[in-house]
Amino acid sequence: MRENFLWGTATASYQCEGGWDEGGRVPSLWDTYLHNNQLENGNVASDHYHQYKEDIRLMKEGGHKSYRFSLAWPRLIKNLEGEINPEGVQFYHNIIDECLTNGIEPFVTIFHWDLPQYLEDIGGWTSRRVVTAYEELAKLVFSEYGEKVTYWTTFNEPRYYVFSGYKIGNYPPGVNDTQKTIEASFYMMLANAKAIKIYKDMNLKGEIGIVHSYAPIFGVDDSLETKIAMRNADNYFNNWILDTAIKGELPIDMLTRLNDKYDLSFIQTQDLQDMKENTVDFIGLNYYARALIRPYSGGETVLRINNSGSSAKGTSKVVVKNWFEQVWDPNSEFTEWDTEIFPQGLYEGILMAHKKYGIPIYVTENGVADYEDVSVEQVNDEKRIAFLNDHIDAIIRAVEAGADVRGYYIWSTMDLYSWKNGCEKRYGLVAIDWEDNCKRKPKNSYYWYKKVCESNGEMI
Ligand code: BG6
Repeated sequence: MRENFLWGTATASYQCEGGWDEGGRVPSLWDTYLHNNQLENGNVASDHYHQYKEDIRLMKEGGHKSYRFSLAWPRLIKNLEGEINPEGVQFYHNIIDECLTNGIEPFVTIFHWDLPQYLEDIGGWTSRRVVTAYEELAKLVFSEYGEKVTYWTTFNEPRYYVFSGYKIGNYPPGVNDTQKTIEASFYMMLANAKAIKIYKDMNLKGEIGIVHSYAPIFGVDDSLETKIAMRNADNYFNNWILDTAIKGELPIDMLTRLNDKYDLSFIQTQDLQDMKENTVDFIGLNYYARALIRPYSGGETVLRINNSGSSAKGTSKVVVKNWFEQVWDPNSEFTEWDTEIFPQGLYEGILMAHKKYGIPIYVTENGVADYEDVSVEQVNDEKRIAFLNDHIDAIIRAVEAGADVRGYYIWSTMDLYSWKNGCEKRYGLVAIDWEDNCKRKPKNSYYWYKKVCESNGEMI
């Protein structure tokens, strides 16, 4: 691997910080939604808000070269009038400074889903006003941290956020409305372009990208019908983020299709111009699994409810009416949380993205969830080690085949709050003992990954 390859781990503010009502933080839409529905929440999460120094110390000791984390908007800007919260601003200075002092490169996500409730109250991402609010946030964080941070991403997984919140409806704001899904998606991509423009105009030294929930598309066979279904699925899962962010163009065949049924008049010519002129320097790919596609065979749309905790082990299917169907190979291996384990999808997916776009790639999330008993001194997470080993091997093979991959981040640094599945869904290299004041206990995988980082991947 290249000399300065960024070996790291990743978190997101709402999922790890806790301190939800401390330091001047105002509620996010997740606080409101989880509290109102009396669901397990991130009030405490991994207590990173109080224990970040210990976490960064563990990263250093664990050989990490970089830490991917996100900034909580509700900590930074308190209201619609744009009032800045100095304590929140200072908190991220502290995290960034602690990283730099310990030789850890901060890799910062501006938005990882914790929209302030005051913005949700005016329509959330379906409102153009939120794009302006995001521009204000971008200006603030670039001017505060821009001299210290080299790697920026505008959004974490717009597709996953928008589909879960506006189409499937199992995440806040809990809506099932295709028109709103289209509007929210568009406004997020517009906000991405606007933030890139702000960043470039400030002449800062770093790079800026976007993080996508990547579903490399595979077909059940080589027929023409399957190839057409695969193109539709690629538009649905990937292209409207990646083509828009990298090439500055929404996929025209997708737009044409949507235009037949939905109202796209909210899109202004200047928006398309902004997208065209402001594209990313790199892409962040979060890889958990591929999408296996076959042609649409009839019936109404059926979506898979992510995080339902079911154990369908590949027997379910997704139908997007008149577009495609997604199926799972029942002979594949699945995690305890019903995600297919398919490292070859990462290898092929990286090469697909490399061939199509040719810009630098960071694998910004990859990991596996399990149920674990953390009352023991050191969790023996052999399954996680095997999973990570095979996925890192896939990246190394992709690099050998010519792809420009510059970093890899395991999800997650420590156990944290997993959206809707709470804290029992453990992804961390470091266990959090919620029964013992969020005590940190590195797992076997933590020590294994230390060797990977220190050998720059040679030990795989
Ligand atoms: C990604 C998100 O989609 O997957 C993370 O960026 C998330 O925030 C991770 O936690 C794993 O998903 P989940 O739902 O199992 O926590």
